[in-house]
Amino acid sequence: MPQAYPACMKIGILGAGHIGKALARLLAEAGHEVGISNSKDPATLRDLAHELGHGVKAFDREDAARFGELVIETIPFGKYGTLPAVPMEGKIVIDTANYYPERDGQIDLGNLSESAFIAHHLPKSRVVKAFNTIASAHLEAQGDTTKPLDDRRAIFIAGDDQEAKDVVTGLIEQIGFAAVDTGSLEDSKVQQPGTAIYGPDLTATQARAELTKLKG
Ligand SMILES: NC(=O)c1ccc[n+]([C@@H]2O[C@H](COP(=O)([O-])OP(=O)(O)OC[C@H]3O[C@@H](n4cnc5c(N)ncnc54)[C@H](OP(=O)(O)O)[C@@H]3O)[C@@H](O)[C@H]2O)c1
Repeated sequence: MPQAYPACMKIGILGAGHIGKALARLLAEAGHEVGISNSKDPATLRDLAHELGHGVKAFDREDAARFGELVIETIPFGKYGTLPAVPMEGKIVIDTANYYPERDGQIDLGNLSESAFIAHHLPKSRVVKAFNTIASAHLEAQGDTTKPLDDRRAIFIAGDDQEAKDVVTGLIEQIGFAAVDTGSLEDSKVQQPGTAIYGPDLTATQARAELTKLKG
């Protein structure tokens, strides 16, 4: 039986911006061992790691990917080519990224969803899309573990590996949100920028109702 609610995992985070910092703090506070990285020398993250507390470590991106039993990639989409694929082989990789051509440049996704495109570049990882539809300020503030799951803010997830989605669902619940599954990585087009469920503050109950409307 898979452990869907790991009490303590080693989590490597690639990206120390709005989402990377928020997730590092929330997951470290929830009891996980967190290593964070950016595109530079880890010395540039020592102050941040200290500020986050809870033993958060600063790494370069290769070491963060090696450190994590689970890895979160939260770098700008256009930098997908720098993701260290080998140290993430066999691991669950949470992909938070959104593709904005004006920021990321023109990229030919070949009709794939954004996360299926990322997964294509991480062929031996278990990619789960999550946290892409919530603004970082809301991620920082809206988690509430005291609420029943149906009343919590929804975090949409998608992926092709049910066991990986179960683990990510557990992490989402530990930090006070509720996961709502949109389906496979290809189905995750429904939660990309510009869709009806990208951005709005929905409870899990409301989110499931919206999804039913969208999927017919
Ligand atoms: N901001 C939001 O509210 C939000 C919400 C949901 C999803 N997202 C998506 O999540 C992703 C991250 O967004 P963000 O707002 O957190 O970005 P951000 O604030 O711009 O931070 C990006 C982080 O990624 C690092 N980085 C850039 N290139 C890298 C590389 N090649 N290797 C390792 N690290 C690299 C940057 O480090 P350096 O300082 O070294 O460049 C920085 O720490 C984006 O795809 C975004 O669309 C954002």
